[in-house]
Amino acid sequence: LSDQTNLCHNVVIRLARSDDAVALAILSGDLGYTSSACDMARRLSLVQSSEGHSVWVAQSADGVVVGWVHVCARPLMQVDRQAEIEGLVVNPSARRHGIGRRLMEAAEAWAWRTGCGRVALRTNAARSGAREFYESLGYRLTKTQWTLQKDRT
Ligand SMILES: CC(C)(COP(=O)(O)OP(=O)(O)OC[C@H]1O[C@@H](n2cnc3c(N)ncnc32)[C@H](O)[C@@H]1OP(=O)(O)O)[C@@H](O)C(=O)NCCC(=O)NCCS
Repeated sequence: LSDQTNLCHNVVIRLARSDDAVALAILSGDLGYTSSACDMARRLSLVQSSEGHSVWVAQSADGVVVGWVHVCARPLMQVDRQAEIEGLVVNPSARRHGIGRRLMEAAEAWAWRTGCGRVALRTNAARSGAREFYESLGYRLTKTQWTLQKDRT
């Protein structure tokens, strides 16, 4: 990440591989989900072996993975096939160089290629800049929701 000038142009977007697990885990921490490399390797393997999921990474010219996106298209009852962005993060020191945009372009291309008519996403309202980022890519706010969860006791 030393030369930031042409960072985005030198970044390659490719499918995630099992040997990316360490880098993906570190980036997951940047997203607010601390994960061990071991946990990440297990989850990545599960995601990649599941129908309708795709994980893309951004790799800089020096071989460092600086971002990832997970996109998924689950069959739903209420709408035809659509994709959802399950997670997206770029290394804090690589932000504002167009890498997030490139990752989203890869996720969208996958969605259209696999027959989705829409890409949807949910993002924590507390995430600074995330809404502006998605709106700059053409996403529009359609509703606000409550998120609830229950843990096994
Ligand atoms: C959101 C995130 C993925 C954006 O990645 P990025 O590589 O910095 O984004 P890009 O450089 O491709 O930005 C494209 C455009 O989005 C807009 N944008 C991006 N970040 C922004 C911010 N913090 N505030 C306002 N607008 C922003 C700008 O219009 C930007 O274009 P510009 O830099 O030419 O002005 C990154 O900030 C991140 O990882 N954030 C923490 C995790 C997160 O919020 N993930 C998304 C929710 S799950």
